[in-house]
Amino acid sequence: MRIVVLASGRGSNFQAIIDSINTGNLFVSCVGMITDNPSAYAIERARNAGIPATVIDYHAYPSRLEYEVDLLAALKELLPDLVVLAGYMRILGREIIFEYKGRIINIHPSLLPSFPGLHAQAQALAYGVKVAGCTVHFVDEEMDAGPIILQRSVVVKEDDTADMLEERILKEEHIALSNAIRLFYEKKLTICDRRVVIS
Ligand code: GAR
Repeated sequence: MRIVVLASGRGSNFQAIIDSINTGNLFVSCVGMITDNPSAYAIERARNAGIPATVIDYHAYPSRLEYEVDLLAALKELLPDLVVLAGYMRILGREIIFEYKGRIINIHPSLLPSFPGLHAQAQALAYGVKVAGCTVHFVDEEMDAGPIILQRSVVVKEDDTADMLEERILKEEHIALSNAIRLFYEKKLTICDRRVVIS
């Protein structure tokens, strides 16, 4: 199975996928990494792993629409079976979602539907929840709202800072994302309305 990763920054989730492939825990071929950010550290990670990296600099485009046209073209060239948003910090356009319906997954650092959007870990801490975590979900037209594949939780400690909580959630993200990719290629996921049934 061919996967393409979209990442905007540090790329630790991308690295976790690379590591899972290299240790034989994930039988997929990562055929490309695409980033909207020319200074993303994910580019370095791709280079080190021998994975082709494509930079489509969002800020070099006059409009989001034009950016999306090139992004879709780059995706099509790579012929992905699955598109993985691993710290991709933009909302995907309708055309791309339509083209890869049911074949795009995203990792988000909260137990959705709580705390969608940016700084989810800080939102969780500020709200005062006692349990936080991460979610892998299919991507639909709404932000952080598609059918949920997997969630992993962490207990919020009394003395947690947003950074400490983020670090613990990130460890769970790395596990959850690889697990979700595996369930996808094992064809164990069926979307029934809002629910993802795991067989
Ligand atoms: C991760 O925590 C990921 O869940 C989050 O950005 C971080 C990227 O880290 N994504 C979102 O918030 C998307 N809504 P990484 O670049 O080290 O994988």
